[in-house]
Amino acid sequence: MTIFEFKNLFKKELSKRYSESELSFIYSVFIKKILGINPLSNIHYQLSINEKTQISNLISELKIGKPYQQILGETEFYGMRFFVDENVLIPRPETEELVEFAINELRDSSYELRGLSCEVRDSKIQRFDFAQGDKSLKQEANISTCHSERSRRISVTGKKQEAKSQKPTILDIGTGSGIIAIVLKKYFPDFEVSAMDISENALKIARKNAELHNVEINFFCQDFLNSELNEKYDVIISNPPYIGIDETSEISDSVKDFEPNIALFSPTSDPLIFYRKIAKDAENFLNKNGMIFLEINQKAGQKTLELFKNFKEKHLLKDLSGNDRFIFAVL
Ligand SMILES: C[S@@+](CC[C@H](N)C(=O)[O-])C[C@H]1O[C@@H](n2cnc3c(N)ncnc32)[C@H](O)[C@@H]1O
Repeated sequence: MTIFEFKNLFKKELSKRYSESELSFIYSVFIKKILGINPLSNIHYQLSINEKTQISNLISELKIGKPYQQILGETEFYGMRFFVDENVLIPRPETEELVEFAINELRDSSYELRGLSCEVRDSKIQRFDFAQGDKSLKQEANISTCHSERSRRISVTGKKQEAKSQKPTILDIGTGSGIIAIVLKKYFPDFEVSAMDISENALKIARKNAELHNVEINFFCQDFLNSELNEKYDVIISNPPYIGIDETSEISDSVKDFEPNIALFSPTSDPLIFYRKIAKDAENFLNKNGMIFLEINQKAGQKTLELFKNFKEKHLLKDLSGNDRFIFAVL
């Protein structure tokens, strides 16, 4: 069988489940992964028996709705590569928007975290081009890092003052594969980033991802809903499980069958349970001027916003599709 014949078979077998553009993308990603070649410039390539077996296994898995990212064992988030498996939620584009928003706010020097204000310093990060595979760490983006007002003054005056050693701190609640915490640490290397999850198996993947990106994150396993935080933070960010029990029928089988339910669904009949606790905990565990960034259920925008009524700033923000999707609040 040539690669060209295989492409036709791939489309025929999977066209009921995937759109034309999804199929083209998945096909090209897997051909590069399994055969290590560019399908466009190798249309007469003959598949070996071993390659044919791998590809027919792949088609079977895709047919039953297994996400291609889980089959591949990796995905792309915010231009970077991350490992995923059945223990973690596959990162969603809305969460990229949350991270983008947080990066911009943290970069904005008008917000002060415990007197530690942010300034932009150009730095380089290599961005992963998922469709191109491993060898394509090619794009570069400017990133900023945060410095205390004091250390900035030191560098300006050149005087040897003792800089406050404490750094701005971030907590990511329900870190899953670690994407949010890792991207923020990559963009703000001077921040101390902690990340919690109830699932030790999810944390294994998160730690693997932190290693891949060479960042130090304080990962810890904790049930956020049934425990107290141990310290105060400057930033709390979270994309907690926010699908209500009554919304189960609206979620596709592929998501319900292959992604961890604990990552998707609120554990009680109250879909705002995580947000209620985050708003309450902020009184004791968020420093003055501390910020909260949350991804939320689009159906509960106003209700979620109300939980933050005592904050000096609170905003309900829409995602690119126009849905209420994020809360940004400043204590
Ligand atoms: C919607 S997923 C978000 C994962 C990742 N942050 C992302 O944005 O892709 C929610 C995460 O919260 C974790 N989680 C669920 N209940 C939790 C709890 N009680 N305490 C801490 N983490 C919890 C799940 O294991 C899951 O990894």
